Amino acid sequence: MAALQTVLQSNANIARLPSGIVALFVGATSGIGQSTLQHVPAPHIYSVAHPQTVAAHETHLASLSKSNPTATFTLITADVSLVSEIDKIVAAITQKETKLDILVWSDTREGLEPSMSTRYYSPLRAVQQLLPLLNAAPIPRVISVLAGGHEAQISKAELDLRDSANWSYWNAAVHAATMCTLSLERLAHGNPGLSVVHWHPGAVATPGLAKWDKYSLTPPNQRSQDEAGVRGVFLATSDQYAVQSGPVLVPGGLGGVNKSGGGIFLVDADGESIDNEGVLAGFRERGVDEVVWSHTEKVWAECAARAGRPKDEL
Ligand SMILES: NC(=O)c1ccc[n+]([C@@H]2O[C@H](COP(=O)([O-])OP(=O)(O)OC[C@H]3O[C@@H](n4cnc5c(N)ncnc54)[C@H](OP(=O)(O)O)[C@@H]3O)[C@@H](O)[C@H]2O)c1
Repeated sequence: MAALQTVLQSNANIARLPSGIVALFVGATSGIGQSTLQHVPAPHIYSVAHPQTVAAHETHLASLSKSNPTATFTLITADVSLVSEIDKIVAAITQKETKLDILVWSDTREGLEPSMSTRYYSPLRAVQQLLPLLNAAPIPRVISVLAGGHEAQISKAELDLRDSANWSYWNAAVHAATMCTLSLERLAHGNPGLSVVHWHPGAVATPGLAKWDKYSLTPPNQRSQDEAGVRGVFLATSDQYAVQSGPVLVPGGLGGVNKSGGGIFLVDADGESIDNEGVLAGFRERGVDEVVWSHTEKVWAECAARAGRPKDEL
């Protein structure tokens, strides 16, 4: 376990990162993403807010910029429940930057609505579209805040669970987490310099989690949002979760963490790797990863058609 003290000591070294770090946050208007954004030292931070929360996020970024005057904050307005909005985000960054060092996706739909778009199709599209910028960074990293290590059996015949007979909240959550891991592994395989972390942050006292109160489903022993943010920065910067070493060395006393068989870090609330090969190896052997990827490209193409754009241009 990475004790909080160890994490804080590591984070104290993030000033060693090369100057001019560029980071993109999606889902940082609230919760774990917001707290991670607060602790990250990036000079160029892009943060996405949907129209309803733009004003509040603008105020928040303005106050961060007072305490972090060397940083620049750029707010992008987009609703990431629409896959077609991703290319807008990509275009906004590509126009100004030649590289992207850190991408943190920490997004969820309200309450019990398990949107496959915000949890899966949009983040994967963002990673895929941002690969040229990520590969141009010296030590690029992607952090997906969802449910790494909690992959389980999925219905290969009906990945979208569009048939209400197959749908349940649990099935939808499992499908999103499993498809996310399999597709992130595919992208990591094709981009060997990219470090990819799929994080399950455990129970964290966020506004998102508080929405579960009305269903009496809030778990005990919740971590504070601030601690989750500090741990998010550790995941985004420490060599512990890197495929190539950088300046923020693994803290003394910590053992290394293992990658999944597909080459990404599946990490639990304490920063330890989760071994879910019992499930994932079988998926890879049976080619489920390829089925998931083909399905994903088909859904993206449908989104493009709905938006009236060519297949590769959403
Ligand atoms: N908290 C936990 O205990 C816990 C446990 C396990 C996994 N997770 C995972 O951790 C991630 C973050 O959770 P959290 O608890 O920090 O959630 P949260 O407090 O609800 O924050 C979610 C963020 O997503 C943004 N968002 C939602 N829909 C959006 C849209 N259509 N377009 C743009 N932004 C949108 C929200 O923006 P607005 O503020 O504008 O709505 C907010 O910034 C999620 O993937 C969740 O599944 C959390």
